Amino acid sequence: MRTEYYHDTSEEIAFAAALLRNGELVAFPTETVYGLGADARREESVRAVFAAKGRPADNPLIVHIAEIGQLYEIASEVPDIALRLAKAFWPGPLTMVLPKQDCIPEVTSGGLDTVGIRMPSHPTARALIKESGCPIAAPSANRSGKPSPTTAKHVMDDMEGRISAVLDGGQCSVGVESTVICFDDAETIHILRPGLISAEDLAPFAANVYVDPAVFSQVAADARVSSPGMKYKHYAPNARILPVDAPDFRTFSDYVSKHAVYGTYCLLFDADPEIPGIPSLRYGDNGAQRAHDLFLRFRELDEAGAKLVYVRMPRQDGAALSVYNRLMRAAGFEAVRL
Ligand code: TXA
Ligand code: MG
Repeated sequence: MRTEYYHDTSEEIAFAAALLRNGELVAFPTETVYGLGADARREESVRAVFAAKGRPADNPLIVHIAEIGQLYEIASEVPDIALRLAKAFWPGPLTMVLPKQDCIPEVTSGGLDTVGIRMPSHPTARALIKESGCPIAAPSANRSGKPSPTTAKHVMDDMEGRISAVLDGGQCSVGVESTVICFDDAETIHILRPGLISAEDLAPFAANVYVDPAVFSQVAADARVSSPGMKYKHYAPNARILPVDAPDFRTFSDYVSKHAVYGTYCLLFDADPEIPGIPSLRYGDNGAQRAHDLFLRFRELDEAGAKLVYVRMPRQDGAALSVYNRLMRAAGFEAVRL
């Protein structure tokens, strides 16, 4: 199959929208990562998304909308707390899991009776959803197990020849996937996947904000989890990723110097000095910057041929929790604690 490469002009967005209406697959930019879109209501199209990604069928897709009104077409119940959060954080990187309407087939929801819904803020995504007239089911546009793509080139690297088109909307500004939440009761927000919108940001909206334990530790492959995506190893580059939790740079650098082998790289904070003899990349100085840089650096490490990467451990609060979670998942939840 030939994969068309479209730019984000209104003419080419209209071409991409026509492909979606025709049941075809189009990768498009969002503020978080690129999504691989299909009409969420069409079983055949959604099946093709799973096939193109090599994704397990029990891992549900997020449905993307362009107006709050569309929420009621996709969700069969919208509790007050969900509406308050939609008004506060949409358009933006927040996905809410709600009971699904019948128009959303079980292929899309991975066999669940709930569906993840999000209104992205990227202008190209919004234009595409509006122009197509479809609610768009879209997982991240990587091959399953690869880091999520944050540029159109990453999408082409993974998906060329497997999908009808890629719409180029530049580099994604957020860089990690959306915060995914569900509601355990009218007063409890349950974070299934951390993102730029943090537990601290959500706290004013509910009596309780609960972060799922699968954010911090490995879930057994056969475990029952609240969000199927959490049990799969994800986001991994080819190199082995080894986060190192050190009290300061000196301790980190002494450890790395002692243990470095052929093909060792470091992923450092911006303010860190170089470690003599060990090539390094950097990933920012705060949670939001690290979120923006992490997947880019993973792909660069692969291009450089890195075999083993020692990573300075990010914090676990605010937006940094999303970085911690992606990093630990890439590392299979193994880390060095000094
Ligand atoms: O930022 C994002 O969310 C990106 C862009 C494209 O919007 N999309 C994305 O989709 O990251 P994906 O498919 O790679 O991740 C969706 C996550 C998975 O972990 C999945 O298990 C969870 O959301 N999820 C989706 N629907 C769910 C549901 N009904 N119940 C529980 N978890 C759900
Ligand atoms: Mg993904």
